Parts: sequence; structure tokens; C-alpha cells
Amino acid sequence: PLVTTKEMFKKAYEGGYAIGAFNINNMEIIQGIIEAAKEEKAPVILQVSASALKYANPKYLVKMVEAAVEDSGLPIALHLDHGENFEICKTCIDLGFTSVMIDASKYPLEENIRITREVVEYAHSKGVVVEAELGKLAGIEDEVKVSAREATFTDPDEAYEFVQKTGVDSLAVAIGTSHGAYKFKGEAKLDFERLEAIQKKLPGFPLVLHGASSVMPEFVEKCNKYGGKLQGAQGIPVDMLRKAASMGICKINMDTDLRLAMTATIREVLATKPEEIDPRKYLGAAREAIKLVVKDKIRNVLGCSNTI
Ligand code: G3H
Ligand code: 13P
Ligand code: ZN
Repeated sequence: PLVTTKEMFKKAYEGGYAIGAFNINNMEIIQGIIEAAKEEKAPVILQVSASALKYANPKYLVKMVEAAVEDSGLPIALHLDHGENFEICKTCIDLGFTSVMIDASKYPLEENIRITREVVEYAHSKGVVVEAELGKLAGIEDEVKVSAREATFTDPDEAYEFVQKTGVDSLAVAIGTSHGAYKFKGEAKLDFERLEAIQKKLPGFPLVLHGASSVMPEFVEKCNKYGGKLQGAQGIPVDMLRKAASMGICKINMDTDLRLAMTATIREVLATKPEEIDPRKYLGAAREAIKLVVKDKIRNVLGCSNTI
């Protein structure tokens, strides 16, 4: 069966490594991630956004993830990414998700606490764990754009208060990462002092890093080589992610790197084999590319190979 993230986070925290949380939308993405986790003997979190639920139909996604559990025998958590209200969290809990994120970070602290606590009460009564967010990430989330100026980093004292008052199981922090392929204009920079201060306030408590794709240059280049238009794309350097994993970050969210690998690969196949019309040829190649990316993340970013 699907598992919660409780056990995996505990081991990750103690071991100074992190678990990968990868966004899924379709069969090929799921299979690419699972094949990689299987070969690396790593636990994995498959996460679904509201727009992914809408795109794929939750019933199909849940069945495919159940098939992945049965086929792989791996500890897999099925997680709702950025649930924006109680209702969507409840829907996913009732569908069999083992973890949900309530993202009420756009509201003032008291409101965020109130909404998060409501989700925690329902989730815990069903054996489901909850991630919440405090502070705002810059970048694009769904259709909401938060400008870099509006973004506010997580305050360590508020983080402590938030965790005490909500009973949440993990907390996403804002320390300079952002969603999407354009994370920095100039030099990449994360606020590690802040992360250290948050960890000091919450020793042993699992923290989460969103917007953690590295925006791998080889895939940006390949996209552009075959007709793509990605100018100035930049992600989080791998050494910063490793450092974060050693500082209480137990879950590292990545979606953009999988999208890039998939799109670059499909562009390449279509451009170099213009006579090809079999979708399995380009989707199969994309699935293989995703597998290689996830293997690389598990080994070189997360450090969770051979942890099961
Ligand atoms: O946090 C954002 C994730 O990359 C999911 O994106 O809402 O377009 O599925 P999405
Ligand atoms: P990236 O856009 O950096 O892949 O972040 C994904 C994410 O945080 C999903 O919640
Ligand atoms: Zn996110």
C-alpha cells in the first residue's frame, strides 16, 4: 500500500539526506520516476497539483499510482501539491492520498494557522499527513504570479509558532527558491542563515524545499537547439540543494527539470525523425529521459540511494 512520509522523513532527517517529490501528470512521467527509484532503491513522493488533477482525472492518477506501488514494492507516498483550500485537501484524502499540502501561505499568519489546523484535524483523523507553507515563494504558481518583491521569506519565530499551533507534519519554507525555469536574474543565492535559524527553532522537524529544480543546462540547450525558446533560464545549483538536505530539508520538490527533460527529448525526436508518427517513439524516449534525470537527482542531489 501507499505509505505516509512519516517514516521516510524521520530516516532522512537523521541521515542528512532528502526525499524527492516529483510532480506527475501522466503514465510516462510516473513510470520514469518509479523505474529510477526502483533501480536506486529509494523511497519516493509522487505529487499532484490541482491542475494535474484536472488534466488527468484523479481516478486515473490514483489507479496508476496504485499500480506503481504494486509493481515496484517501493515505499511511495501520494501527495497533493499546493492544495489551496480545505475542500481540495479533503477530496484527495478521501481518494486515498497519504499526504496533502495545504498552501494558505498567501493569507496572514492567523488565517494560515486556522485553515491549516482545519486540514490537519481532518487529515490526522484519516491517518494522512499534512505539509503547510509559511512565507511566500517568488515565481509562478498555477495562475498566480507573485513578484519577487512581494515574496517574503519565512520568519523563524513564526515558523515555531505555526508548527505548535497547527500540529502540521512538515513545513515548506521560503529561503529564496521559486517555481519555474527562471529562478534568478543574476547569481543564485539562498538564505542559509535563515534556514539554520528555522532548524534551530524546530530541531528534528522535517522542512520542505519547493522550487528546487536545477534547470539542467543540457536540457535547456537541447530545447533551444530543436526550436525551443528558453532565454535566461536558471535554477538552483546542486551543491546548494545538497547543503539544504543536510540542514533539515527532508523533501525537495522538482517539476521543472522533468518538464524540461521531457520536452527537450520530444523536440529532439520530432526534429530528427520527421517521418515518425508513433507516439510511443517520442513518449518512450521522454520516459527514459525522465528516468535518467530522477536517477541523477536521487544519487547526486538527494543522497537517498539504497535507503530502503
Ligand atoms: O508548484 C507548481 C508545480 O510545478 C505544479 O505546476 O500547477 O502547472 O501542475 P502545475
Ligand atoms: P520547480 O519548478 O523548481 O521544479 O519546483 C516544483 C515545486 O515546487 C512543486 O511544488
Ligand atoms: Zn511548490
